[in-house]
Amino acid sequence: MKYSISWNGGAILTTDQRSLPHQESPLRLTTVDGVIDAIRTLAVRGAPAIGIAGAFGVALSALRHGAEGATAESATAEGAQGGDAQGGSATAEGSPAVGALDERAQAAVRADAARIADCRPTAVNLSWAVARVLTRLPEGPQAILAEAEAILAEDARANRAAARRAADLVEQLCPDRPLRALTHCNTGRLATAAGGTALGAILELAERGRIVEVLVDETRPLLQGSRLTAWELAEADVPYRICVDSAAAFAMAQGLVDVVLVGADRISRNGDVANKIGTYGLALAAARHGIPLVVVAPESTVDEALESGSGIVVEERRADEVTSVAGTRTAPAGAGVYNPAFDVTPGELVTAVVTESRVLEPARDDLAAQVAAHTVHIPDHPIEGVDFQDLMPVYTQPWLVDRLARAVITRFRGEFDHVAGIEARGFLLGMAIAQAAECSFVPLRKPGKLPPPVHAVEYELEYGTDTLELGEEALPAGARVLIVDDVLATGGTAAAAAKLVGQSGAVPAGCAVILELTGLAGRDRLSLPVFAVRAI
Ligand code: MRU
Repeated sequence: MKYSISWNGGAILTTDQRSLPHQESPLRLTTVDGVIDAIRTLAVRGAPAIGIAGAFGVALSALRHGAEGATAESATAEGAQGGDAQGGSATAEGSPAVGALDERAQAAVRADAARIADCRPTAVNLSWAVARVLTRLPEGPQAILAEAEAILAEDARANRAAARRAADLVEQLCPDRPLRALTHCNTGRLATAAGGTALGAILELAERGRIVEVLVDETRPLLQGSRLTAWELAEADVPYRICVDSAAAFAMAQGLVDVVLVGADRISRNGDVANKIGTYGLALAAARHGIPLVVVAPESTVDEALESGSGIVVEERRADEVTSVAGTRTAPAGAGVYNPAFDVTPGELVTAVVTESRVLEPARDDLAAQVAAHTVHIPDHPIEGVDFQDLMPVYTQPWLVDRLARAVITRFRGEFDHVAGIEARGFLLGMAIAQAAECSFVPLRKPGKLPPPVHAVEYELEYGTDTLELGEEALPAGARVLIVDDVLATGGTAAAAAKLVGQSGAVPAGCAVILELTGLAGRDRLSLPVFAVRAI
């Protein structure tokens, strides 16, 4: 496997990301200060990549302090001062046999490690990797180096697995159509050990023949999108166009985006995501347009110690990154600057976080919690033995109805052109979905309400039988119809609705409900995709 960062001859070898795309310059780091400078100036950047560089930085420190403490003969023979770019530092293979470090050397390594971990505060991968290699400090420098090598190899494997899983998910979310993906910043091989995260998923989708175009946000102010992501896409021969960051929302409104794929620098337990500045704006726009926003990251980016994103420290960077373009000042002298390098997107706007081992659905989890908070449980209603879940309080909250409608649209985007609501409560959410999706609404009514001619289907309920009717002319032939109700219980009503839609010559495309009572296995009676915001 070819890694973007490697350990060679006692030094960290990588590509200097500052000179791309014009020049592919190798970068050789042999000192802790060199590592810190490279990370701070974004010569090495991207959450996993800075974690790996930081881990090797601790190894450099340990080898140097170990060599200083070793015999003068071996220290001199290997020239292990670790500070020059000409090599000669201690190496994994050729280093002096440095064993456990004494107390003083260990303290010096810890101090270096703290400086490395602090040099960029937002991406948790850096402090995580530094803390991980430090657990091997009592065993000596070679153990630290071995741990850094393990992090490198694991990151490459994790990214590959996460990228494949994310590609599978995107194929599920956006089935049967050529995809236009939008991405932000750089999440490719340069930002990781190998393969990339979100860009890895895009490349995987391209390999599967699913990508028609990638829209690459330029990513002001340091242009990781237009400099690095565009370079990686060109290298992989994937069609792309660069847009300024402020064009992204309009591109979504114009129908140029099917899915937004981004990486992450830190993810809290509730699914809030810190990522490159501009991600939050993308998430707001994507939610407005019912476009899924998928975050791809290794587990090392998940900060299990953090309940929510409010605890994430956002790095603020130098003013001249904003006031100058390519070294030319573009703002008046003395202009004040606000330059956060990252933002935090609340989980409620994140369709999915995909790692090598799981798929989290923060937006859905948050919505399910809101639905739960607005549901009243009434036992023995309308007859004894029936557990009634009253969702009427949901409809007292317009913001919640709007979010439910948009969640349904995100799930079935591009798959329906009519909404059929089941009388009576299916009318409420169904109408909200039709309105937000700008498509027509058709009522599936109780018997005798619609003027003839009608199609009718009789079906069994938990408590008796009922009939649904649909006006014969209500749906054009071949219309793709999303069936909407509030609750999916035994599935009898939804199955009748699907049959009715089919009888009229239209195609049932899916079924969306707010609440699914899984114990009644209603989903099994339906041969169409079902989306339930909450399942109990
Ligand atoms: O400031 P940067 O360029 O290091 O920021 C990097 C990003 O925000 C990336 O999108 C993120 O680290 C994911 S990298 C796989």
